[in-house]
Amino acid sequence: MRDKRILLIIGGGIAAYKALLLIRQLKGAGAAVTPVLTRAGAEFVTALSVGALVGEKVHEALFDLTSEAEMGHIELSRSADLIVVAPATADLMAKMAAGRADDLASTLLLATDTPVLVAPAMNVRMWTHPATQRNILTLQGDGVRFVGPDEGEMACGEYGPGRLAEPEAIFAAIRAALVQGPLTGRHVLVTSGPTHEPIDPVRYIANRSSGAQGTAIAAALRDLGARVTFVTGPAEVPPPEGVQVVRVQTAEQMLAAVEAALPADVAVMAAAVADWRVENAGAQKMKKVAGEVPHLSFAENPDILASVSKGGMRPRLVVGFAAETDDVLAHARAKRLRKGCDWIVANDVSPATGIMGGAENAVTLITETGEESWPRAAKEVVAQRLAARIAGALDG
Ligand code: CTP
Repeated sequence: MRDKRILLIIGGGIAAYKALLLIRQLKGAGAAVTPVLTRAGAEFVTALSVGALVGEKVHEALFDLTSEAEMGHIELSRSADLIVVAPATADLMAKMAAGRADDLASTLLLATDTPVLVAPAMNVRMWTHPATQRNILTLQGDGVRFVGPDEGEMACGEYGPGRLAEPEAIFAAIRAALVQGPLTGRHVLVTSGPTHEPIDPVRYIANRSSGAQGTAIAAALRDLGARVTFVTGPAEVPPPEGVQVVRVQTAEQMLAAVEAALPADVAVMAAAVADWRVENAGAQKMKKVAGEVPHLSFAENPDILASVSKGGMRPRLVVGFAAETDDVLAHARAKRLRKGCDWIVANDVSPATGIMGGAENAVTLITETGEESWPRAAKEVVAQRLAARIAGALDG
């Protein structure tokens, strides 16, 4: 973070106090912070406390002549390495999506070509409102990065998504956004983990995927500078820091989240998606009846990899996985052609290998032009190797 300048726009909301904690963390890491306080933000934290923490002038009004003389708002926005909006209100995001510039914060955001990271915070209904969700899609399409919001108890007493991400998570997202690497400016979509297909409200069908390989891939791509959207089923390992996490349960939800995350330059589908869902899943818990067993009927789940590979918004490079227990390479080659992806990472998930749910992986990368078997190694090492290959492919 040394020598990095962050322009921090503090919007309105109870969570604005967390921006003060974030400033302390950024300063502690050696970053310079230029604060901008919106009118709504100033209702929750004072310019005095923000200014005292950063040791710099707090910018508040668009037509502040003194500061215009010192530094024009255009320059203010461009001299930063990253613009961070935390907390970002629904209103501020709507202005950003519409390209409006009627106060200092929105003008800075419109006048800049500096990367932008947004940490939203709002009431759950405002977050889930179609207008807000539409604005988020627009902003993501413009290359804006997001961190959070988290799910939980809200200051207004409601429960759900809308809480500002914790300062540590925002800090990790800032660090990731500042990485200059071969994938800087690229958007990569990664799916990971198992899916859970409900039988009834308390039971589900799942598989042994821990999410470790997908998580390591997302982290490795992040470390090369990519903006990563990480769509994950209920995995055992926590998602990596500094990526946009979208949590899902079922294959159908995963498909919807993947479609919402497009366009992307690259998609890596590491999730172990359930092939079937229970068609006659119960709305209530199924009761045990002595001497009887339930009869489940199954419906086929959408094939997310095939649908992305063959869809209209196909990323330039689509990478699938092939989890096999026999005839690994033959099945994997056939899978690559059947699903229409560019590359397949084939792995043997027979129980004896200990790969599914384990810490190591041994894979063969199958591309249009050839096959390479990589030695068994930690999933992180396999991930770094794959990320480097991806960067190389986009370069060419
Ligand atoms: N996949 C997917 N959607 C599905 C099933 C699989 O996107 N409904 C993706 C996985 O993420 C992986 C690839 O397809 O990248 C292959 O998954 P795998 O489980 O090996 O293959 P299946 O399609 O399930 O085929 P089979 O069960 O016959 O091996």
